[in-house]
Amino acid sequence: MTDLTRMTPIEEILERYPAARQVFDRRGLHGCAGEQGPAETLEFFARVHGVDVDTLIAEIQTEMAKPAPKPYAYEATLADYIYRRFFKAGIAVVLTVGALWGAVNLLEIALRRNFLLLHLVPAIHAHAHAMIFGWCGLFVMGFAYQSFPRFKHTTLWRPDLANLTFYFMLTGIGARIGAELLAPDVLGLALGAVASATELATIGLFIAIILRTAQKSLEPHNPYEKFIFGALAWFLGQAILSDVFFFAKATAANQDELIHRIALLDGPLRDIQLLGFVAMIIAGVSQRFIPAVYQLGRPRQDRQSLIFWLMNASLLLDVASYVLTLTTRNPVFALGLETAFILMLIWAALLVRQLGVFAAPGERDRSWKFVHASYMWLLMAMVMLPFFPVYGILTHQYFAHSFMGAYRHAFTVGFVTLMIMGISARVVPILAGIDSNRLSALWGPFILLNLGNAGRVTLQILTDFVPRVAFPLVGFTGFLELAALAWWGVGLWRVMIASSARRITPVFVQAPVVGS
Ligand code: HEM
Repeated sequence: MTDLTRMTPIEEILERYPAARQVFDRRGLHGCAGEQGPAETLEFFARVHGVDVDTLIAEIQTEMAKPAPKPYAYEATLADYIYRRFFKAGIAVVLTVGALWGAVNLLEIALRRNFLLLHLVPAIHAHAHAMIFGWCGLFVMGFAYQSFPRFKHTTLWRPDLANLTFYFMLTGIGARIGAELLAPDVLGLALGAVASATELATIGLFIAIILRTAQKSLEPHNPYEKFIFGALAWFLGQAILSDVFFFAKATAANQDELIHRIALLDGPLRDIQLLGFVAMIIAGVSQRFIPAVYQLGRPRQDRQSLIFWLMNASLLLDVASYVLTLTTRNPVFALGLETAFILMLIWAALLVRQLGVFAAPGERDRSWKFVHASYMWLLMAMVMLPFFPVYGILTHQYFAHSFMGAYRHAFTVGFVTLMIMGISARVVPILAGIDSNRLSALWGPFILLNLGNAGRVTLQILTDFVPRVAFPLVGFTGFLELAALAWWGVGLWRVMIASSARRITPVFVQAPVVGS
């Protein structure tokens, strides 16, 4: 193969010279797109895997020049396709207890014109738990098991244990949903204990697997990894606090105590989940993935460490100030809360600048608009946050629930969900060996999700001013989001099915003689 260039598709190289697979696998290709390899070019592979493209070409040419190349047997292993079960379960979760249940709850809120329906609290908390652990958690774990070892040019430590975490996590989520709905009954408490044990075991094992995988790697430590390890610590922290929250609610002596405990713990828990675990993992993965995949270039000034410490410090200040404001009613601590919100806006702006997501990308595909819009929603959410206390004062509310709900939705659906949709729309076809340019551009789900989200964010705030108009309309927004997620989810599922069809034909590939 003398015409090997940086623009040659990998599948073409592997078709003509199967032994080149060994070079690619050493550099992190293993399992990607089965035996045939992905449709992406050599240049893309080198960029995403952090390898110099000329070195890669030289390595392939050396392999090709060997007089009798070693025969190469390609066989997919559990570590190569484990991500698919996590992603499929994530889609199942978001379409059922996520968007569907959320939309039904929202419709009831709209019909009763009240966001503070006490009887809906267990259902809303079950929905929130399933979305953090099931939607975000499962996608994060699946992506980490697939990509982290490849980014580190090594293999996954103990794929069998990784597989166990899948079943543990599903057990935990199912048990917790039951527990939220049945507590304080004995069965509810028992399910809460099962959920706690299985989820803590899942997250503990997940962290151990990622750390051991990192230890196996000979690659030097990358600056973005501190975000990954920071996020893992918050992942465990939020799981512990989530259990404390559940048992605090389940053991409340009366309704007043229940409301007091929810008021004290719900805010810190959601902030740790969303701004600690979820935002930090997205920030880490973004820095490793987005500039390389979309050819955004390097930032003029690297502010990774500053962003990392701002994220952690603002979250700690936020949690401490919130608890102290509520328990002491001292306005000094409210200032701490406001400072934390401003620091959050600063890290979000710095992150966006660091990534260059508002510059024109060198390479764009159907997923780019999701990533771009996701960061717009992050900025929108973080701009809203410092206005939360001001809004409360202006509307004479101690806790402006509608504003907080709107901010949270801008974050969870705008930032987080668009990011999951975008990254998976880019990665899954590569892993399936399908050229994403031949797939749907996903404009339908993209427009529907943004419409639903924008409607929810504005209308939830407007319920404070024009409830007669805003409540009936906000009730529909959940169904727009559900339709968007179903549209995207079915498409992604079908790509994964095509991917598994490739896996079931592992063959023994005899390398051809060079020049034949
Ligand atoms: C996709 C459509 C979704 C719909 C229709 C929906 C609906 C809802 C509703 C009606 C509430 C209660 C709102 C309030 O009290 O202000 C809620 C709360 C919440 N949702 Fe969702 N949601 C969706 C997606 C998500 C996603 C993707 C996540 C996480 C990534 C998420 C996490 C949460 C959280 C953390 C809460 C707060 C629960 C609490 O008050 O403690 N939701 N959702």
